[in-house]
Amino acid sequence: MNHAVKVAPSILSADFARLGEEVRAVDHAGADYIHLDVMDGHFVPNLTFGPPVIEAIRGWSGKPFDVHLMVDPAQPLLAAFADAGADIITVHAEADVHLDRSLQRIRDLGKRAGVSLNPGTSETAIEHVLHRLDLILVMTVNPGFGGQSFILRQLEKIRRIRRMIGDGAIELEVDGGINAETAPQVIEAGADVLVAGTAVFRMPDYAAAIRALRGTG
Ligand code: DX5
Ligand code: ZN
Repeated sequence: MNHAVKVAPSILSADFARLGEEVRAVDHAGADYIHLDVMDGHFVPNLTFGPPVIEAIRGWSGKPFDVHLMVDPAQPLLAAFADAGADIITVHAEADVHLDRSLQRIRDLGKRAGVSLNPGTSETAIEHVLHRLDLILVMTVNPGFGGQSFILRQLEKIRRIRRMIGDGAIELEVDGGINAETAPQVIEAGADVLVAGTAVFRMPDYAAAIRALRGTG
């Protein structure tokens, strides 16, 4: 694949005391999306933030806000995240027994609809909702925390999903353990968008870190 890969820094690894400034800094450093990890302490064993924090940082960047909901159930909260300033709203296939309805709802709210798959979930979970999707997010760690190790076995799933979707309008995003070493492997397997927390926010130079992920630095 010979397209420009996008980079979506995850603010999970940012300095939360200076969140607005951190969002502005990665925007200026070349981020394509701002990735926002919403965790509920139930679907995943960690808690982060919700719509008021997203609304508070919305003004710090004009880049698309890529909201990754690790929340069960997500459906009752979709409108609140849309109102807070999300551009892409991604729900987990495992957290939603009415996935088709939630994806329709996200598009009805005027937002781009995404679905995420945990490492243990097959791509077959989404084959009947492909027409409702703008983005597929493959987890390359078990969600809940930054700084975990990339699960190599997910490369095969990324390749299969790339074959399922072809080169059409659905973006293929990967999340977890992405760094300058693993990025070329997921790009080769067909990823369009790289989420990275540690590999951007724990580096001294955000612009250099983003270039290194793209393979242009
Ligand atoms: C994990 C989150 C990720 C996380 C990635 O549950 O969905 O977005 O921030 O962090 P790194 O890049 O450090 O693996
Ligand atoms: Zn994420």
